[in-house]
Amino acid sequence: MRFENRVAIVTGGGMGLGKAYVKALGSEGCKVVIAEYSEPLGKACEQEMRELGYDVLFVKCDVSKEDEVKAMVEKTVETYGKIDILINNAQGADKSSLSTVTEDTTIEMFKINWYTGAFGTFLCTKYTIPYMKQQGYGRIINTASATGVNGMATFSALGSQKEAIRGLTRVCATELGSFGITCNVICPGALTEASRLWKEAYPELYEEAVAPQPIPRLGDPDTDIAPVVMFLASEDSRFVTGQTIGVDGGTTMMP
Ligand SMILES: NC(=O)c1ccc[n+]([C@@H]2O[C@H](COP(=O)([O-])OP(=O)(O)OC[C@H]3O[C@@H](n4cnc5c(N)ncnc54)[C@H](O)[C@@H]3O)[C@@H](O)[C@H]2O)c1
Repeated sequence: MRFENRVAIVTGGGMGLGKAYVKALGSEGCKVVIAEYSEPLGKACEQEMRELGYDVLFVKCDVSKEDEVKAMVEKTVETYGKIDILINNAQGADKSSLSTVTEDTTIEMFKINWYTGAFGTFLCTKYTIPYMKQQGYGRIINTASATGVNGMATFSALGSQKEAIRGLTRVCATELGSFGITCNVICPGALTEASRLWKEAYPELYEEAVAPQPIPRLGDPDTDIAPVVMFLASEDSRFVTGQTIGVDGGTTMMP
């Protein structure tokens, strides 16, 4: 029970990797706020976790909206008294923006990626920091992507703002280290619902994409990705900050 008496916020906690983090934190005694903009996803996740006996609360929040982020952070403190862990995981995307070269990428594609990703990460971090500083302890875990690190073609809208998140991570690590707060960023490669559907629809493309990876498969959210995030969220990671950690079978080190 590494997270007994700890309080966490997981953005985009209603499905995919976010839901895996909510489950992993809950299973180790953490109180978790599921900050999710989809009400059906957030409510379903809250119910499922409560049935498992975990102390979780769904708070409807679009992380790209400053007033909603502020209210979500205040609701967390009002309900659980503090914030120890912030996992910035939410990301919205116009799917077509993930397969469009830069010259055909529209400003709308850019906006949805940047607002829900980099801006949301900034806002959640900005409003959480004062509470972490006050108690002299905090763990911030952000989410980037090999698409940005490796400059993958057709991902300008997603990859560019993921690199902004990596920059923000390092700035926050520098600003907050002396307050007992660490800030790290992961690049996951996971078989979530979206990638599972893609794999089923295009099995050959999937094989082509993962075959060159040192570990040639996508990761399991619960058994491959969440344990690394739980380490970063735990006290054991106290001397790790400002780092980008690929949890992706080695994709982020590929040319
Ligand atoms: N799955 C992968 O292989 C992979 C690879 C690289 C990076 N990532 C990153 O990991 C994170 C999780 O990925 P996933 O595959 O679980 O994604 P997903 O699409 O399955 O889940 C994202 C969640 O975020 C929520 N969300 C979206 N916009 C939001 C907003 N504005 N406010 C609040 N909630 C919002 C969605 O409703 C959903 O619950 C994302 O940041 C993604 O970019 C994933």
